[in-house]
Parts: sequence; structure tokens; C-alpha cells
Amino acid sequence: IGQSFEVRPVAGRIGAEIRGVTLSSQLEEETVSFIREALLKHKVIFFRGQHQLDDAGQEAFAQLLGDPVAHPTVPIKQGTDYVLELNSNHGGRADSWHTDVTFVDAYPQASILRAVVVPEFGGDTVWANTAAAYDNLPAELQKLVDGLWAVHSNEYDYAAYRSKPIDEEAETRYREVFVSTLYETEHPLVRVHPETGERTLILGHFVKRILGLSSTDSAQLFSLLQNHVTKLENTVRWRWAEGDVVIWDNRATQHYAVNDYGDQHRVVRRVTVDGDVPVSIDG
Ligand code: SIN
Repeated sequence: IGQSFEVRPVAGRIGAEIRGVTLSSQLEEETVSFIREALLKHKVIFFRGQHQLDDAGQEAFAQLLGDPVAHPTVPIKQGTDYVLELNSNHGGRADSWHTDVTFVDAYPQASILRAVVVPEFGGDTVWANTAAAYDNLPAELQKLVDGLWAVHSNEYDYAAYRSKPIDEEAETRYREVFVSTLYETEHPLVRVHPETGERTLILGHFVKRILGLSSTDSAQLFSLLQNHVTKLENTVRWRWAEGDVVIWDNRATQHYAVNDYGDQHRVVRRVTVDGDVPVSIDG
């Protein structure tokens, strides 16, 4: 459709850049369907130069994809209804692999991230395809994980992931806000994607433990599986420019914000779209 739209895969298993679309709340139904289909197929889609979008515009565009939902603990950016601002001056550098907000039952189906301030170098984000990760597991490992469940919490083991913080105080403050209300839930390790029917792995840094296993076995199985998810062939890395907008299917991806830009300033703003409770392969 729409000969003016162009879809250019950025990596082999995940990620495509879309050209010829100016994002707004006024998009035609045909364009919204095109975006949805591209998102389901490529898992993360990139749009350059969307300078027309401000916070309100980002929120209004999000509404075309579903119901926007605010973060459960981090306050919204002032003057907005749903925007989560990640500002490097205020902590919250998301430099470990995760899927957004898996510590609640019905975690977001999609996230829309807009680059507002981009460091001169560094600060890329990397996404991994959790459907391809499952698909590429040996059958014996698939059988093992098919029936397993894990506990997810926003009070996960921060220390286990933490590299030396650039600004210890800012990170500590951000973390205090992040855990100001504690959430814990259980998800199957393998989710049937509600739209594509693909099987995807639900892992990431909010996993506290895998049910039914000792803490040692749980940690070892977690890292074995997580290594499959984050294998480089399974990822795409994006070099941001101001005005870029990236949308990811939060049911089929994990992501990692690379913390290699020191004390340079980086600001991104995220709106998430409500999702549903994951369904395991047993229904
Ligand atoms: C996020 O984890 O949603 C933010 C990713 C980023 O800062 O690039």
C-alpha cells in the first residue's frame, strides 16, 4: 500500500525504518494499519525526523494504537497525561535488558519513544527479538521452558545489573521513586502473542525468580535463556537523532539503553500503550 511508504529492514531479525510517514493523531486508517502491520512483523520500527511531534502530539498519536497508560510508579512529566521522561540528569538510565513494566499483570503492548536531547556520541538503544529467541531455542530447551513461570517485580536485584553510576545520588533517587509502590506478579516464561500467535519469551531484569526452581538453578536458567535473547544476531541497535520516534512491540522484545555517554545530556520521552495479561501455551 501507499507507494510513498518505504520499509527498510535495519537488521536481519528485528527492526525496520519506515520512511514517508509523518506521525500525528490525524493519520488515515490505512496508514495506522500499515504501521501496526510493520510493528508486528519487525517488532521495532524507526521513524526519523518527526520534529512536528511534541508531548501532546506523541500522546495523541499513541491513542491510534490503543489506550495510553501512565507508568505505575514514576510520575508523569508535568503538563502531560502519560509521558514518562527519561532524563540522564535525573537517573533512570535503563542500561540492563528488560521489557517495559512486566511487574504488572497486563503490561504494555507497545512503547513509543521520542528522542528530545541526543548526546553527541553514545546513548544508542538496542532491542532484541523474543519471538526469534524462542524459535531458535533447541526443541529440548523449548520443552523445558514451555511450562515454566516466573515472578516479576519492580523491586528486582538492581545491584546485580548496576554498572558504576555516573551520578550515584540521582540513580538512588530514581530508584526510590521506582519502588515507591511495590508490584509483584507471575508470568509464563513463554507467551502466545495475542496478535501473531508467535511464542515469545518473557524474561528481562524484572524477573526475580523462576517458580519451582532453587535460586541457583533459577539464576542459571535465567542467564542461559537471556543469553539466547540477547545474542547479537537477534538484536538491532539504533543511533538516535533528535526527532526520531521508535515504536516497539513490548510483547515480543526486550531493550537496553547503552550507558556509554558519560555526563552528556540525553532526554527521551516514552508513552506506553495498555496491553493484556499474557496467555501461556496452555491457554
Ligand atoms: C526505556 O527503557 O524505555 C528507555 C530506553 C532508552 O532510554 O533508550
